[in-house]
Amino acid sequence: MLNIEPLSKTFHAETVHEVRALQNVNLTLEQGSFTAIIGTNGSVKSTLLNAIAGTFELDTGSLFLDNDNITQWPEYKRAYHIGRVFQNPFAGTAPEMTISENIVIAMKRGKHSPFSNAVTHAFREEAADKVKTLKMGLEDRLDNPICTLSGGQRQSLTL
Ligand SMILES: Nc1ncnc2c1ncn2[C@@H]1O[C@H](COP(=O)(O)OP(=O)(O)OP(=O)(O)O)[C@@H](O)[C@H]1O
Ligand SMILES: [Mg+2]
Repeated sequence: MLNIEPLSKTFHAETVHEVRALQNVNLTLEQGSFTAIIGTNGSVKSTLLNAIAGTFELDTGSLFLDNDNITQWPEYKRAYHIGRVFQNPFAGTAPEMTISENIVIAMKRGKHSPFSNAVTHAFREEAADKVKTLKMGLEDRLDNPICTLSGGQRQSLTL
């Protein structure tokens, strides 16, 4: 059973871009049940799924999977128990990797990134030094997914 206790999330709080996306949302999904969430464009369906998957930190609220409080669990750890497909059909696979490489990544779902052996402490320091030259503060966000960056930040990183 998945149980969500009043959860809230505001994006860009106290700016002109503020979006009060989720406000005191409660939800209980029983084991074996089937639930559909229906709403118009922008009615926070994907945002609710992202909150359950652990894509961002909640402002308030807790998530329980059976008896486990998973609120602080990182996305990769939740993925062991919670499967999802993305709205963008191209987001579910790594297009430049082979089918077998994609399957290997899928089989490691819920474990540390398959790249964690490659991203050593020394490499992280080197990467941080390089990114620092962009003067965008991205050296403090090395663990953030690229999709959370702005267009300009992504272009700078590409360069
Ligand atoms: N990371 C974010 N930063 C700022 N605003 C966001 C973020 N994620 C979602 N939003 C905003 O939250 C609102 C809900 O978006 P969401 O993607 O959850 O809608 P949706 O119900 O899935 O819509 P659709 O049917 O179009 O897919 C939108 O106004 C969106 O711009
Ligand atoms: Mg959506």
